[in-house]
Amino acid sequence: MAVTQDELYATLDLDLSWSEAALPERVRTKHVHRLHPYHGKFIPQLVEVLLDRYFAAGDHVLDPFAGSGTTLVQALESGLDATGVDVAAFNCLLMRVKTAPYDLAELADELNDVSGRLESLGERRRRVGGYLRDWYAPQAAGELLSFRDLTSEYRHEDVLRVILSRAARSARRAAHFDLEAPKEPQRGEYWCHKHRRECRPVESATRFLRRYTQDTRARIEEFAAVRDTEREATVLHGDAQEVELAGPYDGVLTSPPYPGLIDYHEQHRYAYELLGLDDRREREIGAAASGTSRASLEAYRAGIAAVLARASSALRPDAPVLVVVNDRRDLYPEILERAGLQLEMRHRRHVNRRTGRRAGEYFEDVLVARAE
Ligand SMILES: C[S@@+](CC[C@H](N)C(=O)[O-])C[C@H]1O[C@@H](n2cnc3c(N)ncnc32)[C@H](O)[C@@H]1O
Repeated sequence: MAVTQDELYATLDLDLSWSEAALPERVRTKHVHRLHPYHGKFIPQLVEVLLDRYFAAGDHVLDPFAGSGTTLVQALESGLDATGVDVAAFNCLLMRVKTAPYDLAELADELNDVSGRLESLGERRRRVGGYLRDWYAPQAAGELLSFRDLTSEYRHEDVLRVILSRAARSARRAAHFDLEAPKEPQRGEYWCHKHRRECRPVESATRFLRRYTQDTRARIEEFAAVRDTEREATVLHGDAQEVELAGPYDGVLTSPPYPGLIDYHEQHRYAYELLGLDDRREREIGAAASGTSRASLEAYRAGIAAVLARASSALRPDAPVLVVVNDRRDLYPEILERAGLQLEMRHRRHVNRRTGRRAGEYFEDVLVARAE
């Protein structure tokens, strides 16, 4: 028999569970959190509560699987320093752009200047091959390449590279309802589940470049008003199993990759293709491409345990290690043990699913551990 709502909620940490009404998408993607979409990030409000419960202002938090930088951004908002590690170059670029300090007047000047040049982007005809030819209309590909060419003229080159990537994501020949992981380019008209009408693949990227240039400026300004300017974020690009960690840190807060679920490089393929970023996908732990065979699960356990052991050795004594995970394969008791960590507490939270396309209840645990 299915459990009742009351029984379900009795086992949950309600301070860590939010309904859609209490926490709509607009609030979950506040300020820089939505500089670029990212599949598999945790919600900022969860990080906010956990930082408040387990850390003090002025502490330094480490996230060895930092992804799009939710921990780093929230740490700056809560008055903490933060260090984030990620093996995916695009994620590191995104984190740096989200957390860098800005001279807002200078940023505004540069972005206004870029906006004034957008209309003429499509004037030059370009030859494209490979990925760009397959995934973009010729006009859109030309505009994206022309935008890329002008990024190096500006001091805020990295901000422009993120804007370019976001526009490149939207301008792919992909169905609107399938932007997260489209398998094949969409060449003709199609029935769009998202907009409930016939839609056509995108022809031009300019309107996205314009919209995201404005939106990025607004989001960086919004974050500047709430971040602690005395604190700073450090981004380390590398495999967390071997990257040099300074420290000592006052604790870890992280959400690791899950086995066989998401390819973190592949989800931003357009950015790697356009920006020529360093591709280290063979170092991703639990990549979807490696599947969930026994050998892959063992590699996953060994990889995550190595990262947690390494992170834990960079902490001050008795510091908390918080791991947010949906452990439906029950891998984490062994992973923690191998990492020399003792589980102190397991908070269960209900994860709200945004769309009907991903039906079913979904739960996550926040594991609280410390070095043995
Ligand atoms: C679940 S995501 C983290 C999301 C993050 N909490 C956020 O809110 O954006 C896991 C991350 O681990 C990274 N990752 C996978 N293998 C790694 C490795 N060997 N070293 C460092 N990072 C790795 C992936 O690139 C991905 O960004």
